Amino acid sequence: MSCLDKGFLILMVTRGFFKGRRLRSSLLLERYAKLWPDGLIGPYSLGFVRFLKRLRLEGKPVDLQDLLLRLTFDNICGLAFGKDPQTLAPGLPDNTFSSAFDRATEASLQRFILPEVVWKLKKCLGLGMEVSLSRSLVQLDKYMSDIINTRKLELMSQQKDGNPHDDLLSRFMKKKESYTDKFLQHVALNFILAGRDTSSVALSWFFWLVIQNPVVEQKILQEISTVLVETRGSDTSSWLEEPLAFEEVDRLTYLKAALSETLRLYPSVPEDSKHVVVDDVLPDGTFVPAGSSITYSIYSAGRMKSTWGEDCLEFKPERWLTLDGKKFVMHEQYKFVAFNAGPRICLGKDLAYLQMKSVAAAVLLRHRLTVAPGHKVEQKMSLTLFMKDGLKVDLHPRDLTPFVNSVNEVQLIQILNGDKDECS
Ligand code: HEM
Repeated sequence: MSCLDKGFLILMVTRGFFKGRRLRSSLLLERYAKLWPDGLIGPYSLGFVRFLKRLRLEGKPVDLQDLLLRLTFDNICGLAFGKDPQTLAPGLPDNTFSSAFDRATEASLQRFILPEVVWKLKKCLGLGMEVSLSRSLVQLDKYMSDIINTRKLELMSQQKDGNPHDDLLSRFMKKKESYTDKFLQHVALNFILAGRDTSSVALSWFFWLVIQNPVVEQKILQEISTVLVETRGSDTSSWLEEPLAFEEVDRLTYLKAALSETLRLYPSVPEDSKHVVVDDVLPDGTFVPAGSSITYSIYSAGRMKSTWGEDCLEFKPERWLTLDGKKFVMHEQYKFVAFNAGPRICLGKDLAYLQMKSVAAAVLLRHRLTVAPGHKVEQKMSLTLFMKDGLKVDLHPRDLTPFVNSVNEVQLIQILNGDKDECS
């Protein structure tokens, strides 16, 4: 197995770095909250909805899953190495890095499915998907090497003219420790692998569930409208000019509940494997010898009656809220395992919520979605829970008037009630 090969199949290097330096998710969130105004998440969401509007005017159905994958790919490449490959552009261009990335992920799945001896033999003989994996890894290697070399030159000239780069790669390269190019490649690649497909497929399932559950959709829009009337006033044109600010997104509790409920039912990583390093015993008494592998189903864990109750198959964001519906309640990490749990819990969890909330709010504020006639949504057998044939939707303009009116009515009632309380 080549170095890049290893890096692609496991998130080991990224983990080592983040853990070793205690760069935990709270720190990541803090950093990205700071990066938010600099334009790394909000403007991407705004660009996305403007792109959707252009497609809406063409009047044809769009594959939302494909568009979201392009969006998160551009976004994560911007965060990882400060280069937006602009795959979300008119004509939806192919991108060598993105296609090589997809082929490598697909081919890697074969290694999980086939016995080790079979895929190793195929690799030696240059057969099947192993050929495509090797070719894709060479392409990824070249793409990443070019970026690293260019960045080295840029950082050298930056020292003279002071032009700042603040992406993940630059942060590593500016550190006193000198990392090898291979290490830097692994870090950037693993970051993209971890953060790209996961957020976009979660959003695809979220939009699909919202289309099936109009009451949930109404509640999400009501919440966004309540926040925006407060922060920007009742003129909805001011809601659409600028992306939502970090503080506005942060207040969207019901939306966070709906996204968590989506991940419970449709976890982006449907199953996860662990390698046993030393002999151990599971809580139920099962002995697991060193050297064995354990795969657990995150998908099933989110649908168990014993854990989630009789209504476990229903989409109910309310199960993530306090009884008065005002506060978000995160379930215990070993109960809700969509982000894994324990020392290897997802480090991008908070960033993922920020990104998904920003995109979801931006889309729902401007567009009403319906599934394109005849389109069937099915799961794809893959390391990530993709929709097999994408999510084909028709886009319609959103009328925000009923929501503004409703927020104003509620506020009026509250004022009247407040007056009443004062009189009594
Ligand atoms: C909905 C979105 C996401 C989901 C469902 C998700 C889920 C997961 C899961 C299940 C793991 C554990 C994998 C394992 O056991 O090896 C993981 C690990 C990880 N994720 Fe995420 N992830 C998401 C978004 C992100 C984002 C946006 C980033 C960063 C840009 C990210 C960065 C990481 C990293 C660095 C790890 C490795 C942590 C470690 O091994 O210590 N994730 N994620």
